[in-house]
Amino acid sequence: MKILLLGANGQLGHAFMKSRALALRGEVVPATRQGCLDGRPCHSADLADTASLNALLDRVQPDLIINAAAYTAVDQAESEEPLATRINGHALAVLGGWAAKHHALIVHYSTDYLFDGTKAAAYGVDDTPSPINAYGRSKLAGELALRASGASHFIFRTAWVYSPHGRNFFLTMLQLAKQQPELRIVNDQFGTPTPASLIVDASLAAVDQWQLAPPAKRISLEGTYHVVSDGVATWHDFATRIFRKASDAGLLQGTPKIVAVGTGDYPTPARRPAWSVLDNASFRHRFGFELPDWRDGLDDTINKLYSEVNGPTC
Ligand SMILES: NC(=O)c1ccc[n+]([C@@H]2O[C@H](COP(=O)([O-])OP(=O)(O)OC[C@H]3O[C@@H](n4cnc5c(N)ncnc54)[C@H](OP(=O)(O)O)[C@@H]3O)[C@@H](O)[C@H]2O)c1
Repeated sequence: MKILLLGANGQLGHAFMKSRALALRGEVVPATRQGCLDGRPCHSADLADTASLNALLDRVQPDLIINAAAYTAVDQAESEEPLATRINGHALAVLGGWAAKHHALIVHYSTDYLFDGTKAAAYGVDDTPSPINAYGRSKLAGELALRASGASHFIFRTAWVYSPHGRNFFLTMLQLAKQQPELRIVNDQFGTPTPASLIVDASLAAVDQWQLAPPAKRISLEGTYHVVSDGVATWHDFATRIFRKASDAGLLQGTPKIVAVGTGDYPTPARRPAWSVLDNASFRHRFGFELPDWRDGLDDTINKLYSEVNGPTC
């Protein structure tokens, strides 16, 4: 199987690149905007340039397209919505059109920011999206374009993604904890921190089952799922546990004081949903895949980071 990995330098893309499980499934062809960070040979791919995207697909002829690339600058998207929509929306029509014609499977990622955050319970996959910012609208456009393309696909909506690599809240907190004795952290937005490695494992479990299924049954597996850890946290809860666990593991000398603040104390160009908890039950049941509590995922990520810094424990 030939696997085209778009966005190989991003947080999720990097987790795929590191995954031995992905390499075992076929020939991985990474594609990025500026060459692979780990020095591997890399195809050039710009999702804003649809003509070059088609040429890349024709050259690579993938059986599986994993789209980990996206315009993810949530605040900047407010002033660049057309560009965000081209990358997160229109590009999916191109990828989907090619995949439908060539019988390739697409794995695509979407977001909790599709929802407005006013629901009193976890959002199900069939709840009506109602994004409150430009990034959310651009990601919704991508979902609609991919579904309309007729390609075999999985759309995995995820949230609050973090890993030991890339730009994310987890690493930012560890960095700030070394620089500042006191941090003000938002305590009125609710979601579920989800490790990138969990999304990789869940995605591959679904792809495996799709490939093993008889062709007529594959369509019943395809579609949209929520791939997030279990449980609910605020950014304040997340930061508190990051500091405690990192300190226990010896990654931090002491923990900063954390002051809980409201979203209103931290104005940003883009509005964020106050409640973006996603119900992951349909993924768990359909694929028999466990999505552990966010605290377990965090503890595991801290252990991995400890091993990277200090070498593996015996
Ligand atoms: N991070 C989260 O909390 C979160 C939450 C919900 C959903 N998601 C979704 O999960 C997926 C992966 O996100 P992530 O956290 O891995 O994001 P990320 O770290 O920002 O990575 C995104 C990657 O996309 C690439 N990219 C941006 N514009 C591109 C373009 N025009 N052409 C080609 N590549 C382009 C970036 O390339 P450069 O390296 O060149 O900038 C970057 O490597 C995305 O679909 C995102 O919407 C993420």
